[in-house]
Amino acid sequence: MSAKHDFDQASSQPTISEAFALEGRTAVVTGAASGIGRGIAQLLAEAGARTVISDVNEAGLRQTASLIERSGPPAIATSADVSRRTDIDALADLAVAESGRIDIWVNVAAIIVNRPILETQEDELDRLLAINLKGVYWGCAAAGRLMKEAGSGSIINLSSGGGEAAVPGLSLYSMSKAAVNMLTRTVAKEFGPYGIRANAIAPGWVDTPMGLHSFRNEAGEIDPDKRAAGLQQRAQASPLGITGTPRDIALAALYLASDASRFMTGQILRPNGGVAMP
Ligand SMILES: NC(=O)c1ccc[n+]([C@@H]2O[C@H](COP(=O)([O-])OP(=O)(O)OC[C@H]3O[C@@H](n4cnc5c(N)ncnc54)[C@H](O)[C@@H]3O)[C@@H](O)[C@H]2O)c1
Repeated sequence: MSAKHDFDQASSQPTISEAFALEGRTAVVTGAASGIGRGIAQLLAEAGARTVISDVNEAGLRQTASLIERSGPPAIATSADVSRRTDIDALADLAVAESGRIDIWVNVAAIIVNRPILETQEDELDRLLAINLKGVYWGCAAAGRLMKEAGSGSIINLSSGGGEAAVPGLSLYSMSKAAVNMLTRTVAKEFGPYGIRANAIAPGWVDTPMGLHSFRNEAGEIDPDKRAAGLQQRAQASPLGITGTPRDIALAALYLASDASRFMTGQILRPNGGVAMP
């Protein structure tokens, strides 16, 4: 009589909480002083991870660290400008010195420039690519080097719905995010044999300081009426009638960071309220 095959492998499956738990793991998050990066750092800490958070905005970083302390292991906070490779390498070294390992690396830091191509200046293009693209590239490299030694790890890159849509005025931002999508797939193929996964998250509209550029008046101030109308318009673009929150994106990051997504690599996850469905 042949042995019955256990297709479900039920006896070796983790429970739901085991699959999502991050206790004993270390997560590096760039761009953690604000918005989505802050939300991701908070949630990964809530799931038990030790967080190493960085940003150029030191005051915001301190606020994130104090929010994390309320619900997870205390964060290690350090200033790092992702446009400088030396800062990224120093961030990786600090994480290893403090916790001996890096299991999760989330490249969040980015800027947006809203400028028609005919008015774009060379220094704007250079700066945006240095942060949004080179910062992610060297972040993947720094994480990959350390994760390769460990034989495991999860890299998460923040992309955007803007990386898949041509929007007048957003050429620099959109092309940087399209490049992040391709980079993520290449990283997944190069690093997969070392047990490292790499995925991107391409959010739809989330109300954070980054989006405020859309709601400025001619004097450069935020116009509350323009903001309210803009948010309503973006919500209406979704079949669900909503915009996202940093927590919505953080939950996607938790999935990609944890063993729950052990079969997922090279993918672009799109929490966007159904605004774009390629
Ligand atoms: N908010 C949205 O609707 C939205 C949608 C799609 C994608 N995203 C992406 O999500 C990520 C987070 O965006 P957000 O909305 O939270 O924006 P945000 O402006 O609130 O946060 C970005 C953070 O990056 C930091 N940063 C900027 N330049 C840096 C540098 N050189 N080095 C280190 N840190 C730097 C900023 O100080 C800030 O804390 C970005 O990659 C963004 O492109 C946002």
